Amino acid sequence: MACHRQGIELSALTLAVRVGSRQVAAVSDVSLHLAPGRVLGLVGESGCGKSLTAQAVLRLGEHQGVTRISGDITLDGQSLFALEEKALRRLRGGQVAMIFQEPMTALNPVFSIGSQLTEVMRLHLDMDQQTALNKAEALLAEVGIQQPARVLRQYPDALSGGMRQRVLIAMAISTGARYIIADEPTTALDVSVQKRIIELLRRLQQQRQLGVLLVTHDFGLVAEMCDDVAVMYAGEIIETGSVEALFDQPRHPYTRALMQCRPEIAAAGSVLPVIEGNVPSPGTWPVGCRFAPRCPLAAESCQQTVPLNAWQQGSHQARCVREPEA
Ligand SMILES: Nc1ncnc2c1ncn2[C@@H]1O[C@H](COP(=O)(O)OP(=O)(O)O)[C@@H](O)[C@H]1O
Ligand SMILES: [Mg+2]
Repeated sequence: MACHRQGIELSALTLAVRVGSRQVAAVSDVSLHLAPGRVLGLVGESGCGKSLTAQAVLRLGEHQGVTRISGDITLDGQSLFALEEKALRRLRGGQVAMIFQEPMTALNPVFSIGSQLTEVMRLHLDMDQQTALNKAEALLAEVGIQQPARVLRQYPDALSGGMRQRVLIAMAISTGARYIIADEPTTALDVSVQKRIIELLRRLQQQRQLGVLLVTHDFGLVAEMCDDVAVMYAGEIIETGSVEALFDQPRHPYTRALMQCRPEIAAAGSVLPVIEGNVPSPGTWPVGCRFAPRCPLAAESCQQTVPLNAWQQGSHQARCVREPEA
């Protein structure tokens, strides 16, 4: 196994959550590689385990009863599970920053924007308060915030959702982090604001050569932002490959179904198609292919085990044994 690859590598990661008194797998056997300077999209419907996977990279979730059953996550070859508390704090925000769907998750309503930004910088960079304040002002300007000196003195409540997300992005880049985990960073925003936040993320990613793990349920966003994609269903990765390969030749029926749900593809004025049925929750996954109960191509053999790389063409892999229709 290639254990010393640069970047963030998840290898056969299995995570469990608590359901009542039981521990059940919610992420199973997930392997992903986020290389430096690349953008990896993690796509799937709600409830597929995307956030659990993303949060695991910073070892978040452990306080909400999420446990690692097996597998590993490494940063430049070093296991994150071997880190002590202090090193873990340095990693969080220092090397790997996280942007959430709801920016208030990460902002504290009782502290000003300036004090929160400078605290992050002073924690990770050896910096006095005045230097940090100056840098904070420059960062707010860099993420497109007008009147940055004024915003530094404001509290999160005074800002719009889009502005708060810009502040979080400023915070993420303030420490020189090389990787950003962005979990549905624009889902809660108006469409016009979404577009501008994505433009900002893309510009910063390119200028700073950031490695970005972009969690989304939106294939349009994947096409715009990502180099590589991993499609997740019921806790497992069912297809991976470059964006070009996946869009040219989506192989798994689930990937195809998700792509049909893109608003740009649905005819104007028509109802957005949805995939019939629901994502099975942890503890209720079918044996064999987990998508089989919803799959138009499912055959009897799909109820048995489906091998990890049932289909493979270079780095493009899909966990499906069926031939898709042309
Ligand atoms: N802390 C937790 N305890 C119990 N169940 C959880 C926890 N976090 C997530 N889950 C469940 O695990 C599944 C995957 O959740 P999540 O990773 O948030 O999905 P996604 O981000 O793809 O929408 C869901 O069924 C969710 O209800
Ligand atoms: Mg989520």
